[in-house]
Amino acid sequence: MSAHGSPDYKMSPMQSKKVFSFKGEATIPGDKSISHRSMIFGGLASGTTKVRGLLEGEDVLASAKAMQALGATITKVGSGPDSEWIIQGVGNGLLLAPKDPIDFGNAGTGCRLFMGLLGSYDFETTFIGDASLSSRPMGRVLNPIAQMGTQIIAQVEGGRLPVTIKGPKVAAPITYKVPMPSAQVKSAVLLAGLNAAGTTVVIEETFTRDHTENMLKGFGADLTVETDENGVRTISLVGQGKLQGQEILVPSDPSSAAFPIVAALICEGGDVTLPGILMNETRTGLITTLIEMGGDIEISNERLSGGEKIADLRVRHSALKGIKVPGHRAASMIDEYPVLAVAACFATGETHMEDLAELRVKESDRLAAVARGLKQNGVDCEEGEDWLKVRGRPDGKGLGGGKSVVTHLDHRIAMSFLVMGMASQKPVTVDDSGPIATSFPEFVGLMSDMGAKLE
Ligand code: S3P
Repeated sequence: MSAHGSPDYKMSPMQSKKVFSFKGEATIPGDKSISHRSMIFGGLASGTTKVRGLLEGEDVLASAKAMQALGATITKVGSGPDSEWIIQGVGNGLLLAPKDPIDFGNAGTGCRLFMGLLGSYDFETTFIGDASLSSRPMGRVLNPIAQMGTQIIAQVEGGRLPVTIKGPKVAAPITYKVPMPSAQVKSAVLLAGLNAAGTTVVIEETFTRDHTENMLKGFGADLTVETDENGVRTISLVGQGKLQGQEILVPSDPSSAAFPIVAALICEGGDVTLPGILMNETRTGLITTLIEMGGDIEISNERLSGGEKIADLRVRHSALKGIKVPGHRAASMIDEYPVLAVAACFATGETHMEDLAELRVKESDRLAAVARGLKQNGVDCEEGEDWLKVRGRPDGKGLGGGKSVVTHLDHRIAMSFLVMGMASQKPVTVDDSGPIATSFPEFVGLMSDMGAKLE
């Protein structure tokens, strides 16, 4: 298949029609953030790492390929739910120079984490990606690694791909205050710190997803986290330590679960059970918000799996009401705003979402893409520089039937609008469903099995 957005790429439009029943139990694929990190840390650590429940989406497979290009051996054993990925890592500090540019496809997380990782290696690496990734800012990672001694040999204006970097002989540790709420930037600096001579310190004012910290500790890194009375976190990592291969069970991705959750709430006859969803507090903002809106979301069987909190969710059709979503919650639901905006279309009153500046630099400018798609489909909404207001219509009357929504190679824009079509009076069409395979290849089958009409 040609890369999404390349000249010979063929878009796959898709339409979603109103359903009167959306019921069943579904196993959501593995968490994308943890899957990327499983490949990276497994490939870097000494010895064998075994991963079950890996998300086999295009983004994660690009990280696996990148790790292979850097010397790791990665094989998949078995198929279906019992399959296992076996990684023979190279050892911290021992990655090999890649022979060719590394292609990260659509994946911002893969690209930015590898930029950090390779920023401290004394060889050249060139990073390339699809049209969406090539439009995203990489300066946020290039700036801190340059302080550690990385040379930025080539970049397109504004820190865009293709980017070529070369690490120093020995990277210097830094203390870095992350200027925007971004787990990718935090993680990139920590990954560069893994191969630096001394202690790298990362300070974050907003608590973003903490999978890098948790997993690095699990792999044996000397990493500590201190949180002050204002919630500011100081993460200290001692470089050049040994990482040891681990066994990892990846929990189900709450960011993918968001689509059937919202669909069950807004569809007549919605009643869906989703077992084993990751409930790490840096990821559950959407669930908190939907419950505040009146959503019937039952959380049961809370337990620990591989050091992460998980739970089973049962979600039933509910009368939702609009609310003001507190801005401080944004980091814990940053990928879920497009589908929250869809839930808001079916709530009484206004839903006000704020502190959304980061949405403008995702796989697309998600704030603009959502507002445009909603307006085209009859929704009363307003877009500000970093906020969105949506006024809903609980019966879905007059919604849908618009021009095909432009998805800009953004999987979450495609899935969100397909969920909208499940409850709007008229069908909703998206211009391209292809990028859904980057994060949730099972989406169409899984949603259709429970009653979605997608074609
Ligand atoms: C991710 C961090 C978030 C998120 C992305 C995954 C990660 O990006 O949007 O889907 O795994 O670290 P930012 O760090 O840019 O907020």
